[in-house]
Amino acid sequence: MRRSLALFRAFRHEQDDPEACYSLLARDAADQVEAYDGPMAGRTVLDVGGGSGYFTEEFRRRGAHAFLFEPDPAELGGKPPAAAVVADGYLLPLRDGVADVTFSSNVLEHVADPETFLSELARVTRPGGLIYVSFTNWLSPWGGHEWAPWHWFGAERARARYLRRTGRPAKHTLGENLFAVHIGSTLRQVRARDDVTLVSARSRYWPFLAETVVKAPGIREFATWNLLLILRRCPT
Ligand SMILES: C[S@@+](CC[C@H](N)C(=O)[O-])C[C@H]1O[C@@H](n2cnc3c(N)ncnc32)[C@H](O)[C@@H]1O
Repeated sequence: MRRSLALFRAFRHEQDDPEACYSLLARDAADQVEAYDGPMAGRTVLDVGGGSGYFTEEFRRRGAHAFLFEPDPAELGGKPPAAAVVADGYLLPLRDGVADVTFSSNVLEHVADPETFLSELARVTRPGGLIYVSFTNWLSPWGGHEWAPWHWFGAERARARYLRRTGRPAKHTLGENLFAVHIGSTLRQVRARDDVTLVSARSRYWPFLAETVVKAPGIREFATWNLLLILRRCPT
């Protein structure tokens, strides 16, 4: 409960104190990876769609050989981690099976073709390696990102409201750089794959019943907030 409250408080200050918010989130995600896969030290970890690199930096602090891949130079910001690569997650400039851990936080809802994106994450992960994928599902209270929760009443209306209220156009447009990804259909797609096995599907931030809530069709679309999938690459 303490962990979830700390994350919630940090999210509320995401805009005015992104450093504190994302550093905390990165430590939390690294703890989650280590809970499933043991210490990261010495492992090769890929952070795909890693933005300005908070997660990569945290993985490096823990001794991992961590590499950031981010397609948008603007998202990298002014101080990206050393050796950051401008690259699209659909087509990573890497050989097959190079990573012990492939990590992707809150990217899946920003790609038009999540299945192809997942195939590429699986390709670059070694057999038995771990894949961490989280995303904000569309019907989550945060599904509309900066125009949430008004997305429940329609994306266009929510964007227009954002513009009226802030005087700034919203960063996200549904169907361009934000897509309505649902938990039920994503779980069906992942279970049907033959390149990964599903280890866990859980709410990323919930303090309790994190796996149980994801098992309740319908309710999970609203109550999960953010889905975390832990996958293992199948032997080839
Ligand atoms: C909400 S940000 C998440 C950043 C960071 N991973 C985090 O959790 O804070 C979404 C990121 O996905 C990236 N992205 C969008 N399309 C992508 C693609 N095809 N391949 C890799 N990253 C992509 C964006 O550039 C952006 O940095």
